[in-house]
Amino acid sequence: MVSNRLPFVLSRTADGGLVSRPGSGGLVTALLPVLRDRGGVWVGWPGIADHDADVEAALAGATGKAGYQLAPVMLGAEEVAGFYHGFSNEVLWPLFHDLQSLCNFDPAYWRSYGEVNHKYAQVVLDHARADDFVWVHDYQLLLLAAELRRAGLVAPLGFFLHIPFPPLDIYLKLPWRFTLLRALLDFDLIGFQTLRDQRNFLQCVRALLPAARVMQRGRLVRIDGHQVRVGSFPIGIDAGAFQRQASSPTVIAAAEALRAELPHRELILGVDRLDYTKGIPLRLTAFRTALRKYPDLQGRVTLLQVVVPSRDDIPQYRDLKTRIEQLVGEINGEFTRPGGWVPIHYVYRALDRLDLVAYYRAAHIALVTPLKDGMNLVAKEFCACSVGGDGVLILSEFAGAAAQLQHGALLVNPYDVEATADAIHQACMLPPAERRRRMTALRRAVRRQDVFGWVNGFLEAAIARDLGAFPLPEDYRPSAEAEQAYWDTELA
Ligand code: ADP
Ligand code: F6P
Repeated sequence: MVSNRLPFVLSRTADGGLVSRPGSGGLVTALLPVLRDRGGVWVGWPGIADHDADVEAALAGATGKAGYQLAPVMLGAEEVAGFYHGFSNEVLWPLFHDLQSLCNFDPAYWRSYGEVNHKYAQVVLDHARADDFVWVHDYQLLLLAAELRRAGLVAPLGFFLHIPFPPLDIYLKLPWRFTLLRALLDFDLIGFQTLRDQRNFLQCVRALLPAARVMQRGRLVRIDGHQVRVGSFPIGIDAGAFQRQASSPTVIAAAEALRAELPHRELILGVDRLDYTKGIPLRLTAFRTALRKYPDLQGRVTLLQVVVPSRDDIPQYRDLKTRIEQLVGEINGEFTRPGGWVPIHYVYRALDRLDLVAYYRAAHIALVTPLKDGMNLVAKEFCACSVGGDGVLILSEFAGAAAQLQHGALLVNPYDVEATADAIHQACMLPPAERRRRMTALRRAVRRQDVFGWVNGFLEAAIARDLGAFPLPEDYRPSAEAEQAYWDTELA
C-alpha cells in the first residue's frame, strides 16, 4: 500500500519532544482497518521533516504495534513545500475539484512533484517483490507507476483515486496534462469513486491521447501494447465498527449529555476538514437563510459545526478559517438570545474518535454539503452511527456518496442557498415515520457496501482479467422531474 501519508502524523512540541496523532481524512479512515486485518507494508510520509533518532524509534515502535510494516518516506522541508503544499494541494486538489481559479501552476511545484514521486518509488522498490501487488492511492502519486516501470518493476500496479477526476474542459487547464495522463496509464488497474469520475477520465483519454483505444464500454484502455483496466469502486467505511462504537455505553452517555444540554432542539451537525471544497461558508449562509425564512426554527435548531485543522500552511486555507469564523460570529450576533439559545456552536480541533461518534449519535440531522467530493465518508459515518434510525441526512449532489445514498438522503445543490435552507426546514419537519424509512435505506446502503467489500472488489478486479464480471455501481444525475416536483410543492 502506498499513500502520501502514513496513518499518523508525527510533529515536534515547542520543547523539541515528539508527538504522534492519528491522521484525519477519508483515506486514512478507510485504509487503516484493511491493513490491520490483512497485514502488508504501508509506504508513506510520517508528516515530519526531520529524521532524528527519536523519529526512527517512534516509527519502529509504531510498526511493532500496528500489525503491518511501516516504510517511511522522509521528506525535507523544501519537498513538503513543493510536492505536498505546492503541486498536490495548490494545483491538483483545486483543479480536480473543479476550482481552477484557485490553482497556482508554479513550474517549480511540478518539478518537485516528479522528484518526490521518484523518491516514493525508491522506497517501494526497496520493499516490493515481483509477486507482490502494489496498490497506490490518491492524487499525490499519479506519476508512481511510470517511475516504477522505468526502474524495471514488473509487479502488478493498481491505483485508486480518492478524489474526483475533473471533466475535460477543466483538466485541459493543467500545463502538464499530457505527461500526467500518459503516466497514469502505466498502472494496470485504475479505480475511481464514481461513474462520473470514470467518464471524465475516459473523456480526457479519448481527447488527449490519440494512441489510446478505449474498449469494452470504457472498462479497458489499450496503449502502446499495454492494457489498463478502468473501473468505479465507491469506497465504504468500517460500518460495523462505527455502529458498535455508537452503541457503547461511553458513547450513549456522551450523546445523552449533549442532547440534554440542548433540550427541545433539533441538533444539526457539520463535520469537515478545513477545506474550501467542503462548502462551509455557503452552508452557514444557507443556515442563516433558513433562520430568516422560517422564523419558527429560531430557538428550535442548533448547528454544531466541527472543523478539523488541515493544510494550514496554504494561504487559502487560512483565509477560509477567517471567513468561517466571521460568518459564525455574524449569524450568532444576529440571532443569539442572551442567556438562552445560540444558533451555531463552532468547534475547531481534531476530535477523538469516540467524541466524534458521540456527536454523530446525538445529531438529529447531518448537513454534508461539499461543493465537490470524491466520496465523503462523514455522510456514511453519520448513517452508521444513527443507531436510533431516525437521523436525517442532507447531502450535496456533488459528493460521490450521492450515487449510493440518493434514495434516503435529502439531496441539495450546495450552490443553491435557498434550496439548502428549504431542505433544512424540511428535515426538521419530516414526520418520524418518514425519517425512519429514509434512514433505514441509508443504513442498509452503508452496511452493504462497506470498506471490506470495497477492498475485495478492487483486489478481485486487480486479479481478474475482465471487468465485465463486475456490477456497475449506481450512477447519480440530477433530475428535472425531481426539481419540478419540488417547485410544484413550493408553489401549491
Ligand atoms: P476528506 O477525506 O476530504 O477529509 P471525508 O469525509 O471522506 O473527507 O473523510 C473525513 C474523515 O476524517 C472521516 O473518516 C472522519 O471520521 C475523519 N474526521 C472527521 N472529523 C474528524 C475529527 N474532528 N477528528 C478526527 N478525524 C476526523
Ligand atoms: O481523502 C482525500 C485526502 O486528500 C487524502 O489523500 C488525504 O490524506 C486526506 O484527504 C487529508 O488531507 P492531508 O493528507 O493533506 O492532511
